[in-house]
Amino acid sequence: MKVGIIGQGYVGLTLSSFASEHFDVVGFDTNQKLVDQLNLGSSHIEGVDNSLLGKRIESGRYKATTKGSDLKGSEIVVIAVPTPLTIDRKPDLTYIEAACKTIGENISESILVINESTSFPGTLRNFIKPAIEKYTPSQVEHLYAISPERVDPGRDDFNQKNTPRLYSGLTSEATAKTREFYSKFCDNLVEVTSAEVAEAAKLFENTFRQVNIALVNEFAQIAHSLGISVYETLDAANTKPYGFMKFTPSAGVGGHCIPVDPTYLAAVAEEHGAPATFIRRANEVNLEMSEYIVRRVAADNGGNLQGKSVLVVGVAYKPNVADVRETAAELVIQHLRSQGAVVSWHDEVVGNWKGESSAPLQGADLAVVVTKHDSVDEKKILASAPYVFDTTGKVKGAKGL
Ligand SMILES: NC(=O)c1ccc[n+]([C@@H]2O[C@H](COP(=O)([O-])OP(=O)(O)OC[C@H]3O[C@@H](n4cnc5c(N)ncnc54)[C@H](O)[C@@H]3O)[C@@H](O)[C@H]2O)c1
Repeated sequence: MKVGIIGQGYVGLTLSSFASEHFDVVGFDTNQKLVDQLNLGSSHIEGVDNSLLGKRIESGRYKATTKGSDLKGSEIVVIAVPTPLTIDRKPDLTYIEAACKTIGENISESILVINESTSFPGTLRNFIKPAIEKYTPSQVEHLYAISPERVDPGRDDFNQKNTPRLYSGLTSEATAKTREFYSKFCDNLVEVTSAEVAEAAKLFENTFRQVNIALVNEFAQIAHSLGISVYETLDAANTKPYGFMKFTPSAGVGGHCIPVDPTYLAAVAEEHGAPATFIRRANEVNLEMSEYIVRRVAADNGGNLQGKSVLVVGVAYKPNVADVRETAAELVIQHLRSQGAVVSWHDEVVGNWKGESSAPLQGADLAVVVTKHDSVDEKKILASAPYVFDTTGKVKGAKGL
């Protein structure tokens, strides 16, 4: 069976690597450079290694393409494109709409369309289905299902095989075919009664994390004002064997999911007249952390960062990945620069970012650790500047939250 996967990023390529063990997979992406790179067997995603990709290409089980017509003959097409926010922080479904157009214009037989992109409840039924139908010959009726992705890039204990997967179709036939598809490479499938429940569950999972991260970030500020260690206090609370889950403070949240998905939930809530106060406030607290950190660094250094060379250590949004989307490092750097600091950054996992390259881990007046990759030596961080402020809690001997 041929399967088309639209979008070959973190979600789409990871899915391609698992699905191509059982199916012929065509990975459609609009980025020609990425497609060329993938067809040479070079993966840009942690967790999809080049040798596996090369094997799948060699056996004819996988090919990447920018041609929508290569999707013809697919019995299943999965959508895995970005769902960011617009400039005014509203859900942006333009990538989903473009994917729907690609399906409508290129698929003329009835197929199963599965959405894996994260979006608000009702997206499959009220947006994706009509958008595809708009471009599809009227006699063709597709099946539609949702199966939100839970991939956590950089993690090797949980993957497509052992992470429980939610799914639901708009019809019982769509649900059954979706189960059949994922059961080839996922051990634990959880059917829910409607697409909207699956869509809402995905948003709530990330909202739960966003709100708890904001809570611990606020608590870090409270603990500091009381003169107690936030880390020792959290460890103490964590000795309770039930009813508590430990989150740790940070410079803020990053990546495609936690800073974005809760806003999708808030937007749909407010549209329906329901409050989303926790979500909105949590977002603010997480965004304010960068400014709080820069205030703390300035306070420790005579209240003035003018002309000081500051090295930001780790600009990826989390350890051991090269992903810089929505990274808290960006705001930290902005606030440092607005205080007159001369900022460079060190992150060899990222390498190049916003027209700048990773600077050596040495010779600064001050260092601020935003993300600590496993490959970066703690002692070298401490030696990189006479004053080191660590927002991760991993660099022993540094100043911190
Ligand atoms: N990254 C994660 O950890 C993660 C986890 C769960 C869910 N998600 C969700 O999955 C979806 C995809 O996220 P991602 O992290 O894979 O994004 P990504 O940016 O890594 O990849 C998206 C890919 O889609 C391509 N693309 C954009 N428009 C396209 C179009 N019209 N047709 C074909 N390709 C197109 C881009 O070129 C890019 O390669 C989002 O809704 C996201 O919220 C992401």
